[in-house]
Amino acid sequence: MDELIKLQGVTKTFKDFWGKPKAVAIKNLSFSVEKGEILGLLGPNGSGKSTTLKLILGLLYPTRGRISVFGKHPGDNVAKQFIGYLPEEDYLYSYLNGRETLDFYGKIFNLPSKTRRERIDFLVDLLGIKAYQRRAVGEYSKGMARRIGLAQALINDPDLLILDEPTSGMDPIGIKEIKDIFLELKSKGKTMLISTHLLSDIENICDRVGILYQGEFIAIDKVDKLLLPYQNESHRLEKFFLDKVYAERKEREKKKIAAISKEKEEKSSTKKSDEVDKELLQDLLHKEQ
Ligand SMILES: Nc1ncnc2c1ncn2[C@@H]1O[C@H](COP(=O)(O)OP(=O)(O)OP(=O)(O)O)[C@@H](O)[C@H]1O
Ligand SMILES: [Mg+2]
Repeated sequence: MDELIKLQGVTKTFKDFWGKPKAVAIKNLSFSVEKGEILGLLGPNGSGKSTTLKLILGLLYPTRGRISVFGKHPGDNVAKQFIGYLPEEDYLYSYLNGRETLDFYGKIFNLPSKTRRERIDFLVDLLGIKAYQRRAVGEYSKGMARRIGLAQALINDPDLLILDEPTSGMDPIGIKEIKDIFLELKSKGKTMLISTHLLSDIENICDRVGILYQGEFIAIDKVDKLLLPYQNESHRLEKFFLDKVYAERKEREKKKIAAISKEKEEKSSTKKSDEVDKELLQDLLHKEQ
């Protein structure tokens, strides 16, 4: 087995200015992504998807645990050459046009000018941005910006793609086109880690999916295996996701209520024994008088 990404017991705690823990984004997370595999990272808002991707890229440091990418530390300069990353937020220089943007990122990867030109021609065509490649990216709509972002992530023809909500803001046609591109990349043996909320769209693309809930996996397995109980149903991944998240939420609420009532019980029993003590003391004083 060829593991391109490996996380072992990774925890990420965000701290405030004084170093006090503010949010535990990831808790003791362990998983790996194998060469040629597509792993979908799902989860409600704030469940730790983007944090996990940033840790893998070396943009954040783990509080505990170990991460390796291509067998190296995250952020290693050699490994970076083989990685394409699409961040969740738009980050492009607004005054550059589409072609200039891609050229800028091509230079970061030290691609020769002829290769850059060929690659940009190929990518503007692939992502359907030829018509507005000369417009400043600051004027792009959300969907257009996502397309140029994806082109940027592909500029170095990476072996590993890490994509944070690649289709957010895209229209249904755009989503379909991007899905086809993912399938083509998959057929070329690329490895992909994709975070998304569009469950029905990745159902047929991912080999495995992992569902994060408050920084922990509540499910991670092969898509076929996870969706076995939902055979002959439509929107299977969506149904599985909702069932799993609702069940987990209910379970955690139950535990919370049990803990609160236990605490209350303990408090009231201490109070009762305090009252008994007081009565005994009064009895004693009475006898002494
Ligand atoms: N820079 C930061 N400082 C403090 N807390 C942070 C920071 N970044 C993320 N968090 C917290 O970490 C947790 C996980 O956030 P993250 O962005 O990874 O979630 P997500 O699953 O990507 O959510 P979404 O679906 O909304 O994109 C949240 O509680 C968030 O508030
Ligand atoms: Mg996110």
